[in-house]
Amino acid sequence: MSDQAVAASGRTMRLREATRAAHERLDNAIMAYDPFSDREAYADFVAMQFHLHQAAEPFFRNRELAALLPDLAQRSRLDKVRLDLADLGRGVPDAIPAPGCDVAVANPVPQGLGWLYVVEGSNLGAAFLLKAATKLGLSDLFGARHLAGDPKGRGLHWRQFTAGIDAVDLTDGDETVMIESARGAFSFAQRLADGIFSARG
Ligand code: HEM
Repeated sequence: MSDQAVAASGRTMRLREATRAAHERLDNAIMAYDPFSDREAYADFVAMQFHLHQAAEPFFRNRELAALLPDLAQRSRLDKVRLDLADLGRGVPDAIPAPGCDVAVANPVPQGLGWLYVVEGSNLGAAFLLKAATKLGLSDLFGARHLAGDPKGRGLHWRQFTAGIDAVDLTDGDETVMIESARGAFSFAQRLADGIFSARG
């Protein structure tokens, strides 16, 4: 393995390390809410997912990023989240603006990589969530579509994505922007979780 490859494969590791505590906190907040206790609680969780995916959508549609990450637009799960909301009898909420997601002012490549890392990564843990959703009579065809894995397998789908991230040429400054952006995406998700879940009490 070349030095460049070693350095490159460290990028996803750095993202993981930099956001480990944030992921744990978010994961704990979601599980404490017990989104699988009933369909209403689960629908609140899907509403949270809607805001997160909606915020990241400009990056999934960004041309510069699409040139770097294969099949980027097809990775978006926003449409599936919308269908899940409809399955659960929920309307589509008004979008909540997220910091760092306005591609017109963002530095789209490093900022997008940070956000996309968070949203794509959430599909890894979704295997467990999809299993839990079956308790509520939901599946990858109804109500829990957005938790489904890619037909070729979650692991391979993820590795292809992280290989794309690792191959992008970034300056040290860009790396810092990317890491801060991933942290920002987790903060936004935490804010959503805190707001949506506390509203139900
Ligand atoms: C919207 C909320 C969530 C977001 C944004 C999120 C984000 C992420 C990210 C970025 C990764 C990839 C980490 C890496 O390998 O670099 C990941 C992996 C993982 N997440 Fe989450 N996550 C969320 C909710 C959850 C919840 C609720 C659980 C479970 C209770 C969970 C369990 C996991 C697990 C087990 C993995 C590792 C899977 C594996 O290595 O196969 N996540 N998540």
